[in-house]
Amino acid sequence: MYRSHTCGELRISDVSKQVTLAGWVQRSRKMGGMTFIDLRDRYGITQLVFNEEVNADLCEQANRLGREYVIQVTGTVSERFSKNSHIPTGDIEIIVSELNVLNAALTPPFTIEDNTDGGDDIRMKYRYLDLRRTAVRKNLELRHKMTIEVRKYLDSKGFIEVETPLLIGSTPEGARDFVVPSRMNPGQFYALPQSPQTLKQLLMVSGFDRYFQIAKCFRDEDLRADRQPEFTQIDCEMSFVKQDDVIELFEGMAKYLFKELRGVELTEPFLRMPWADAMKYYGSDKPDLRFGMKFVELMDIMKGHGFSVFDNAAYIGGICAEGAAHYTRKQLDALTEFVKRPQIGAKGMVYARIEADGNVKSSVDKFYTQEVLQEMKAAFGAKPGDLILILSGDDVMKTRKQLCELRLEMGNQLGLRDKNQFALLWVVDFPMFEWSDEEGRLMAMHHPFTHPKEEDIPLLDTDPAAVRADAYDMVCNGIEVGGGSIRIHDAQLQGKMFEILGFTPEKAQEQFGFLMNAFKYGAPPHGGLAYGLDRWVSIFAGLDSIRDCIAFPKNNSGRDVMLDAPSVIDQKQLDELNLLIDIKE
Ligand code: AMO
Repeated sequence: MYRSHTCGELRISDVSKQVTLAGWVQRSRKMGGMTFIDLRDRYGITQLVFNEEVNADLCEQANRLGREYVIQVTGTVSERFSKNSHIPTGDIEIIVSELNVLNAALTPPFTIEDNTDGGDDIRMKYRYLDLRRTAVRKNLELRHKMTIEVRKYLDSKGFIEVETPLLIGSTPEGARDFVVPSRMNPGQFYALPQSPQTLKQLLMVSGFDRYFQIAKCFRDEDLRADRQPEFTQIDCEMSFVKQDDVIELFEGMAKYLFKELRGVELTEPFLRMPWADAMKYYGSDKPDLRFGMKFVELMDIMKGHGFSVFDNAAYIGGICAEGAAHYTRKQLDALTEFVKRPQIGAKGMVYARIEADGNVKSSVDKFYTQEVLQEMKAAFGAKPGDLILILSGDDVMKTRKQLCELRLEMGNQLGLRDKNQFALLWVVDFPMFEWSDEEGRLMAMHHPFTHPKEEDIPLLDTDPAAVRADAYDMVCNGIEVGGGSIRIHDAQLQGKMFEILGFTPEKAQEQFGFLMNAFKYGAPPHGGLAYGLDRWVSIFAGLDSIRDCIAFPKNNSGRDVMLDAPSVIDQKQLDELNLLIDIKE
């Protein structure tokens, strides 16, 4: 028996028991003739005591233990003289009578404590040590609990979990594929799934009716805090459903998870916001509704007064930051610099303070009478003490996105984006297509299997850009945590969609023949959704990046620095795969 108890288990009621524990030496302190060691395992920390006067040899042995040595001790549980209320085992300690070193350890390259001295790179290189830290371990425990609760919820609703293959053909979801060469089929490649989208639709054709999978997905795209090249979806599909059915079931799941994992009761139905409103009022298809500062458009009020920047703009809009009139000139200049950064790209920013007497004092006073400024103030419903910030530009969507960045920054600066507050909504009625300058054609905004809204189907022939999709995203605190749609289940309509997307009938058949053919054998109406598991866990854990809830994540260049992957493979492997490497500069 390696241990009778874990390091998080013993309490005052266990005093006088003879116990055996095993774990890692977290730290050791020598005080006079006594040596104290914090012994750590996954469950907690227990204090060990060695007394030189009682057993000098044993104490000597304890003094030689280094950090992160793996040891086993036997001893008696005793009440502590000075208790530690910060840990659950803080009332007791173990008076050690036997010590056994199970394995020595090199000194770790960073301290394995909550406030570690290790930087990002070193922690990723030694991720197995980083994972010993309570804060990181807790994230993985939460992730485990979430998948358990997800399975419970979906099982209770009649869903069955089906695994789909990882070596498949390309699924177009807008990102690049990761590909895998096939040895047995020279010159041919599998693609790793960007999602199990087409496979889950085929399962509906097979009659599975309610499917789910905790699915690994792979996308070769630029990385951000909420994006990894390899991530996990809670992927679901249902037959004989309309948008409301899907939304209801998965809103139920979100509420269930909040209750079980965060103790938060969300009773109200989530807001459903049309995409067009999300863009108009928040400049984003994933608005953070933890705070207000809804956009107000000012074209009617502010144009035509001789301020050429506004007179020539296609869009003028602003936000009102309540109680922020105290912003100094220096702070406002910094905000102007913020919106002018190349990543945001605004040309400048206009501001207006509402003074105590209700007068408006703006950075463009010389162009506007107080009367016009009062009209502007009224448009925002602004009060004395408020600060109005305005951007303008010649591209409506681009300017809205810039204003969105400014709104989020103000939300940060004013402390309005509290991680313990949750604002959930559905964004619905997405456009079916978006124009891609790069491709020079319309692209599916969600994916090419999304059903258009019934009433917009006639527009497919006349004005495809105006067609709205039967698609929906769930957003929490400004993060897209899930997305889905009602799918096309008719081979003819699917063919038409590929045509609009610029596929020749031959190309469509070559890439998606399997799906369109399946649709000819009795495909039920169906729809579904995928939640981003990593994003849900990171929101519940209050993390800044999904990396922290992934056991072995990639860095921002898509590398696993611990495994040193990707890496070159040897010539023999290349030969077997019929691959020649020709790296272009
Ligand atoms: P979508 O592409 O919207 O839809 O993805 C679903 C959800 O997956 C999460 N997600 C990611 N998480 C981490 N890293 C990434 N690189 C990443 N990309 C996406 C997001 C997103 O909302 N097949 C469809 C779903 C469907 O229609 O049923 C799909 O994949 O939380």
